Amino acid sequence: MIARNLIPLAILAAMVTMNCSSNKEAGPGPGTTSRVFGKTPAGETVDLYTLRNAKGAEADVSTYGGVLVSLKVPDRAGVAGDIVLGFDDLEGYLKPEPYFGALIGRYGNRIAHGKFTLDGVKYTLARNDGENSLHGGNRGFDKVLWKAKAGSGASVELTYLSKDGEEGYPGNLSITVVYTLTDDNELKIDYTATTDKDTVLNLTNHSYFNLAGQGEGDILAHQVTINADRFTPVDKGLIPTGELRSVEGTPFDFRQPHAIGERINAPDEQLKFAKGYDQNFVLNRSGDGLVLAARVTEAKSGRVMEVLTTQPGLQFYTGNFLDGTIHGKGGRAYGPRSAFCMETQHFPDSPNHPDFPTVVLKPGGQYRETTTYRFSTESAGSPAK
Ligand code: GLA
Repeated sequence: MIARNLIPLAILAAMVTMNCSSNKEAGPGPGTTSRVFGKTPAGETVDLYTLRNAKGAEADVSTYGGVLVSLKVPDRAGVAGDIVLGFDDLEGYLKPEPYFGALIGRYGNRIAHGKFTLDGVKYTLARNDGENSLHGGNRGFDKVLWKAKAGSGASVELTYLSKDGEEGYPGNLSITVVYTLTDDNELKIDYTATTDKDTVLNLTNHSYFNLAGQGEGDILAHQVTINADRFTPVDKGLIPTGELRSVEGTPFDFRQPHAIGERINAPDEQLKFAKGYDQNFVLNRSGDGLVLAARVTEAKSGRVMEVLTTQPGLQFYTGNFLDGTIHGKGGRAYGPRSAFCMETQHFPDSPNHPDFPTVVLKPGGQYRETTTYRFSTESAGSPAK
């Protein structure tokens, strides 16, 4: 109350000018803003954070489910377009939907029969995918309200405390996820977590990408490269058999670029089980740190997406369960294979596969993973690389 009248006029004028100059014509400048996105059925307020970088790229992140609601990156003509599936309003996310853009946990992908044993104790989870537990159970991290704080620049920090016993998992798990949009057109997601009891976890983001723009048809012509010599084949219920199979001579060999549609209907048992691609790739890496996991290009828009991660695996899913009944942003119908997901992760069902990289987090330890989606463009006629 005191200060307002005392601010010298000259300073006030300067402040107003600064504000205007960052708002000139192109709309708000780089940084982070937030607005109310809606209310949950329980009456809690959900916010939507908008991150903007200096290149005009934009990402919207909801505190409900930590969902990446929209991601606008430039095409080769410099025109920003939204390349992730989702909904215009919170209501869309409150109905059953296939995890569009959401943060997934505690356990990304499947745990066989919803059961695992840790330190000799048997744990039972919800079977929400046939016989198996999928993406954290009935109320995974995609359906909880995260606390949010705008970070410096274009970033938002989300935090969530998953209580001991939540969805059947042991330990109070304290999680922080930071979304950052860099001026190099990278969307970086940093995940950290600590626990007070031994637990298992596997966090990821479930964005559905279509580099031609959300709702712009299928993704079969996108060219994909995946840096993996091996993948984890699955049984009919999409649970890994435990084998690490060579991609050599199979439709899973993406070590050189291939169109997604080129071999997707090949007479291959793995493709039949999943009705397309929905398998975990074992990323090639020597040591820890970020590796280039995948590269995807789309010829018409010229958009290129590179996925870098500290994780050992990548679930490449081609939207096989989309059937056109869901209408998303702008009323667009999302048909089969109208998007692809690249969920960086530990391998599915790892708690039941002691040979897979461990997903156990212990008190005193820190879970720390990073995934970066890096966007650029290439000129028309560029050979796929
Ligand atoms: C993951 C799974 C798929 C499917 C989708 C969500 O990608 O591997 O089988 O369940 O999530 O629909």
